[in-house]
Amino acid sequence: MIEYIPYSDSIEVIQPDELEISRKIVDSMARVNRLMYEKYRHAIRDAHAKSHAVLKGELKVYDNLPEHLAQGLFAKARTYPVIVRLSTAQGSIVPDKMSAFRGMAIKVIGVEGEKLLPELSDAVTQDFLMVNYPVIPTGTIKEYLKMQEGLEKQADSGELFQEIAQKAAVGVQNVLAAVGLADDTNQLSAPGPHILGDTYFSMAALRFGDYVAKINVKPLSDNVKELAGKKIDKDIIDEDEHAFLTKIVADFFQSATAEYEIGAQLCTDLELMPVEDGSVQWPEDQSPYQPVGKITFHPQQTFSPERRVYADDTLSFNPFHCLADHRPLGNIMRVRQLAYETSSRYRHHMNAKARIEPVSIDQLPD
Ligand code: HEM
Repeated sequence: MIEYIPYSDSIEVIQPDELEISRKIVDSMARVNRLMYEKYRHAIRDAHAKSHAVLKGELKVYDNLPEHLAQGLFAKARTYPVIVRLSTAQGSIVPDKMSAFRGMAIKVIGVEGEKLLPELSDAVTQDFLMVNYPVIPTGTIKEYLKMQEGLEKQADSGELFQEIAQKAAVGVQNVLAAVGLADDTNQLSAPGPHILGDTYFSMAALRFGDYVAKINVKPLSDNVKELAGKKIDKDIIDEDEHAFLTKIVADFFQSATAEYEIGAQLCTDLELMPVEDGSVQWPEDQSPYQPVGKITFHPQQTFSPERRVYADDTLSFNPFHCLADHRPLGNIMRVRQLAYETSSRYRHHMNAKARIEPVSIDQLPD
């Protein structure tokens, strides 16, 4: 029988100079973001600025989950409405041809119970944020700061916007390579495969009720399974290299229904599956991702102007907007609490747009 590591507060270890390093990261991101504001005269996210689709879906928590999986939000079989924003990782608006790391942000609606962020403690939403890569290559704040400083230097290098866009061309990985944090072997090249075939990961750990886990979302129905790793047609890319990702998702959901499965990979060994270094891939032969629920998307308009503006400018997703049972864990997660709030606050302020947490899925425009 597999023994899962029980959650305890002592699993997290504050790192030397953690506050100072975290502050440097957030300040640097904010400086770059202000430049982006000047470029667009519209405030965008510090990261994952460009959305490709905003989906209305339903999350069904599976029935009869064993005790180790029936945790937190997944404790009871229930169906929740969700809003899902698909994005590209860069903090600037780049052509879809340059999209490699992609994000899936999920807002679950109807979740009772106190939430971690004090200003949203009464909200009935809970967010999960994922990227289409199993680990975060800059898995500690020390490594992340090196990458962020490299990025900011490029932003300061005179050819500000062109430079950033060019470096973003082959994804964040190239920036990592440029500052010596990655090599070609783990490079995700742009443009990636079909966005609906991707598997998305929390990359780093979170609390999973009485346990500790990483989570993922992967294609479940055949029509999205068959898109995994599938190259996007060159003709489709050439036709609109700025927005072909938006188009392929919109075309797909004109008539199709798709299902994705949420899985949890529980920690069984804190040495092999560390919490304080998000760059370490937890071995699936020790602990596989185990299904806890599924998300279904029915046919819909995925990117109407009203829907895009609602998701980009009114909503915010934050990994710390969650039940205490799903608190993000480890230093690369802890820095995110300040990073997301800083980015979101600036964006809502500069766009003079209130941040609203929905109480009903009907608030998402069609
Ligand atoms: C550890 C794995 C990580 C994952 C899976 C992840 C995923 C995401 C996703 C999916 C979004 C888009 C959210 C949306 O659609 O609104 C996002 C946005 C963002 N990410 Fe991350 N991220 C990670 C790490 C980090 C780190 C380490 C930082 C900074 C230190 C960071 C800073 C941001 C910021 C500032 C935003 C924009 C927030 C806003 O303005 O609303 N992320 N991230």
